[in-house]
Amino acid sequence: MNNYSEKFEKMKIAGNLAARTLDMLTDHIKVGISTDYIDKLGYEFIKDNHGHSAPLFYRGFKKSLCTSLNHVVCHGIPSDRILDDGDIINIDVTAIVNEHYGDTSRMFCIGKTPVKANNLIDSTYESMMKAIKILKPGLKLGDIGHEIQNYVESKGFSVVKDFCGHGISTIFHEPPNILHYGEKNTGIELDPGMTFTIEPMINAGKYDIKVLDDGWTAVTKDKSLSAQFEHTIGITENGCEIFTKSVKGYSKPPYL
Ligand code: MF3
Ligand code: CO
Ligand code: CO
Repeated sequence: MNNYSEKFEKMKIAGNLAARTLDMLTDHIKVGISTDYIDKLGYEFIKDNHGHSAPLFYRGFKKSLCTSLNHVVCHGIPSDRILDDGDIINIDVTAIVNEHYGDTSRMFCIGKTPVKANNLIDSTYESMMKAIKILKPGLKLGDIGHEIQNYVESKGFSVVKDFCGHGISTIFHEPPNILHYGEKNTGIELDPGMTFTIEPMINAGKYDIKVLDDGWTAVTKDKSLSAQFEHTIGITENGCEIFTKSVKGYSKPPYL
């Protein structure tokens, strides 16, 4: 036992509920359903499993999860918008169980999506996993950002600079900020027991974004497609633990 094993056990329970919510949604996502329906399914699943949805009433947000379609970078608000053939969508779920938070998101492809969109989604997922694979005590935050930026730029994509990953435990967003770009060997060092998210937002075009008048929806300025994946992780003595792994093996599309 160590002094963070109790915290990790609780984070795992919250993370697992968030992951199972995405697993459940995967079996419903298809052409013709609205993002409000996704929100309703998510809300009910989390409630039925004795958790709470963190986004609901968070800083005035009125839905239980985020649905970010096509050129929406993050914080898309569920609405009567119907999923259409060729859409790509990120669904971001944050569950609270026993005061602890689990935050995770995945991309979904609706019907037949363009090759360019599929490549963007693949590179975004790979960049997150490459960063997770190097995590261990002593690594610096800049190394995480560098790993992600270096990879996605080599594929011709760009890293969003205005949003980042974050510390998370019994608070939704806490220090440190986890930037998805940066220089090797800069920033603070990772210590065992640290818990945070990695959630790269990657654009097919330029990295510039703007937030719409609703105060939430972030979109690419050039209207290019944007993709994101997110895991909540904890730093261990010799690596890390992912708290938000899919139970059904639904890591990235296609979810077969
Ligand atoms: N889940 C998002 C994150 O990864 C935050 C959503 S806040 C909301 O940090 F209010 F927009 F839901
Ligand atoms: Co997050
Ligand atoms: Co999130």
